[in-house]
Amino acid sequence: MDYRPLLARRAAAEVPALFRAGAATPPGVIPLTYGFPDPGSFPIQGLIEAAGRMLRASGREALQYGPIAGPAPFLDLLVAKLRQEGIRVTHDHLVVTAGGSQGIDLITHLLVDPGDAVVVEAPTFIGALQTFRNAEADVHEVPLDGNGLDTDVLASLLQRLVDSGRRPKFVYTIPTFQNPAGVSLSLERRRALVDLAHRFGTLLIEDDAYSELRYDGTASPSLFSLDGGGAVFQVRTFSKILAAGLRLGYVVAPPALLPRLLQLKVDVGTSPFATHVAAAFAGDGGGTLDRLQGHIETLKGVYRVRRDAMLAALAEHAPPDVDWTVPQGGFFTWLTLPPGGDAAALLPRATAAGVSFIPGASYFARGDGRRHLRLAFSFLPPSDLAEGVRRLCRVIGSPER
Ligand SMILES: Cc1ncc(COP(=O)(O)O)c(C=O)c1O
Repeated sequence: MDYRPLLARRAAAEVPALFRAGAATPPGVIPLTYGFPDPGSFPIQGLIEAAGRMLRASGREALQYGPIAGPAPFLDLLVAKLRQEGIRVTHDHLVVTAGGSQGIDLITHLLVDPGDAVVVEAPTFIGALQTFRNAEADVHEVPLDGNGLDTDVLASLLQRLVDSGRRPKFVYTIPTFQNPAGVSLSLERRRALVDLAHRFGTLLIEDDAYSELRYDGTASPSLFSLDGGGAVFQVRTFSKILAAGLRLGYVVAPPALLPRLLQLKVDVGTSPFATHVAAAFAGDGGGTLDRLQGHIETLKGVYRVRRDAMLAALAEHAPPDVDWTVPQGGFFTWLTLPPGGDAAALLPRATAAGVSFIPGASYFARGDGRRHLRLAFSFLPPSDLAEGVRRLCRVIGSPER
């Protein structure tokens, strides 16, 4: 059959080969590519116990279809969790989603018509770029530095867009432990960003996938709390702090927009089973968050050691003129090659030498970023990270033949 006349006009954007499901790592290659959580840290026994306890107590609800926004006990848990972070919300702000990914997707559906301007950091999360491209958004970039998104450049861009009658629908930002760059937005810039959103009448999507995983330094307030919630959607996930396979996340939305988001979420409830298991695990049956908090502390210990192993190996082996970010949390560091360097051209040589990474260009909407590459320290044990970095640095330091 000729399917072409049947397909929607809106085309799905091309997914870079490295990100396609099942993209395998050749044997003998240490993958510094995967931003996956450490599988050894999944609390399997705790989840088995929580699932058993939960099914005995509330199996009939957990195995039934559920409310679109999420079951009330899970929303209660989110309200309590956010209150611990200084974010005051009610159920009227919350929708549970299939990971942060669905949150970004729903917000994009709500706001973006083909051709609409949106603004992203450069570099930014590849999944968000894919979502905005699928929606046929006109994606504009603002560069990052060690203090996060450059709000002066953003201000000029917003002015230009508004002057030309193209007010962007939103600025998508990952202010804390950015993926892929590992940097965080300074407090001063957080304030500036919220002010800009109000001044130019645009919304902010604050993708906060990593803030719970802080290894040192002190936290800045979220954009949502600085704003009070009128201009900010905060996108959250349990993927990094509990289990990515549960596919659980949530959006903290301006209450006036929440009903519109719920209209678009046609799924008869994000897995009620997963939400009930997560709630049972989080409080160990006691209705608190103690168990989840304890688990997050354990994860911070695991990932801090991994980050330190990667940074120590870079300090030991990196050739002069190679630069990298020092993340205070999250899963990534971002490497900058010496002038003239090309990460995509380096990759085949690195793979032949037994290490892989993701070249920076994948994280830019307009294909820049040749000199950059992302290294993930979340997935592998410290000895593999050290050996992978040693191999990579040897390739960077050896001239191309
Ligand atoms: C910045 C960022 N946002 C969102 C996500 C989405 O994750 P999930 O859909 O598993 O919550 C990720 C995952 O890698 C991420 O790094």
